[in-house]
Amino acid sequence: MGSAMSDSRTGQGSVETPSSAPAAAACSGPPLRRPAAEPYRIKSVEPIKMITREQRRKAIQEAGYNTFLLRSEDVYIDLLTDSGTSAMSDNQWAGLMLGDEAYAGSRNFFNLERAVREVYGFKYMVPTHQGRGAENLLSMIMIEPGDYIPGNMYFTTTRAHQERNGGTFVDVIIDEAHDPTADHPFKGNVDLAKLEALINRVGAEKIPYVSLAVTVNMAGGQPVSMENLRAVRELTRKHNIPVMFDATRCAENAFFIKEREPGYQNRSVRDILREMMSYGDGCTMSGKKDCLVNIGGFLAMNDEWLFQRAKELVVLFEGMPSYGGLAGRDMEAMARGIYEVLDEDYLAWRIGQVRYLGEQLLRAGVPIIVPVGGHAVFLDARRFFPHIPQDEFPAQALAAALYLDSGVRAMERGIVSAGRNKQTGDHNRPKLEMVRITIPRRVYTDRHMDVVAASVINLYRQRDKISGLRMVYEPPTLRFFTARFEPLREWGI
Ligand code: F0G
Repeated sequence: MGSAMSDSRTGQGSVETPSSAPAAAACSGPPLRRPAAEPYRIKSVEPIKMITREQRRKAIQEAGYNTFLLRSEDVYIDLLTDSGTSAMSDNQWAGLMLGDEAYAGSRNFFNLERAVREVYGFKYMVPTHQGRGAENLLSMIMIEPGDYIPGNMYFTTTRAHQERNGGTFVDVIIDEAHDPTADHPFKGNVDLAKLEALINRVGAEKIPYVSLAVTVNMAGGQPVSMENLRAVRELTRKHNIPVMFDATRCAENAFFIKEREPGYQNRSVRDILREMMSYGDGCTMSGKKDCLVNIGGFLAMNDEWLFQRAKELVVLFEGMPSYGGLAGRDMEAMARGIYEVLDEDYLAWRIGQVRYLGEQLLRAGVPIIVPVGGHAVFLDARRFFPHIPQDEFPAQALAAALYLDSGVRAMERGIVSAGRNKQTGDHNRPKLEMVRITIPRRVYTDRHMDVVAASVINLYRQRDKISGLRMVYEPPTLRFFTARFEPLREWGI
């Protein structure tokens, strides 16, 4: 058998992992069939350039060792996020020219509504400027002070909106999700016993809905199985608790089901996605991911009361219910993206590219979260920097060091992102202390992935030369966006 690298680069065979390497856990389930090369060709290019190490050192100091505060111009390969960073297709760009910028009743709204109905199956839809706009509406309408919102691991903005409305988020994901080394094909699954225990403890009337993410970003882009979705539906139905999806990366989740779950190999991703959504009552959507657009989102639902309330509130926070903070052209691009993302050659390439990067790191012994998820490779900063205690922000230091080494921008997803406990004011200390190397959709080639892998491996070999950080500025909410840091000792890289 050839190496995994040559397999996935040539497209001959599949992206397999050599059995001798510790990479055995990189992908659960049968090997991925990936097209021989990118299933698109490039019509327009955006130049990028690398600045010198001394310039990068200055840039990261000025950014307070926070990669969110870097200027994009100073970044060589930008893997901060997959959110709003997708390359749109020629079909989507053509759609922009058909924007109907009427204040009310734009035809693009109706195209978007049709796409949401056809692909997700929900009756009603209110557009929002992005995912958190939909989270804001949903949380304001559904959550009363003192409520509990169970979810399969938190996401920053989702939990912030729940708390802002007086709710308490309760994590009901399976234990394996908190263990970076646990190989489980559906690490995003809900632990039904945890969910049931919460229902018994606080009572169903205190649970306005279950917040169900597909895939689970903070667990490493891990999917939820259809079997689990069905079981959550059965349990919540008994107690009359609605299920609201965070559908942000739902097409990627559907692809994983096709790849890994028995009985789904011959079903289309479109069909799988429709079945997934049938186990919920609605969803929030960040169109900036699996709708392949740079801006946009929506709240969808079947319930007419919820739709009425959403229409009342969206006018205050986003805009008329027929544009929700978006231009007509943006709605058109999103409507087209909703169909495009279901292309299975695209999905195989996309998920294969993330895996291609992950497998290079595993082969070099770099500690990453396994299995490799849908949108990013997550470095396990605890094992990467065993000499840096969590209170010295190891993942924050690692993201800054990666930028310094190669101009690659990644993101902290650990103690800084987890914020502070509402009651005690102490840090939340998540088990997962990670750096997320997030791959934008259709933007970078495998060659870029090789550069990233080389830099991470280089850093891993010099890990002793990097110290932890001290936080010198901390904002009151969502601190990871703007907090500033300084190294505790000078770095030797
Ligand atoms: N839910 C999930 C799972 C997300 O990953 C995001 C955004 C949101 C909701 C909010 O959507 O940004 O459109 O308001 N995630 C981005 C990221 C920010 O980098 O992971 P938004």
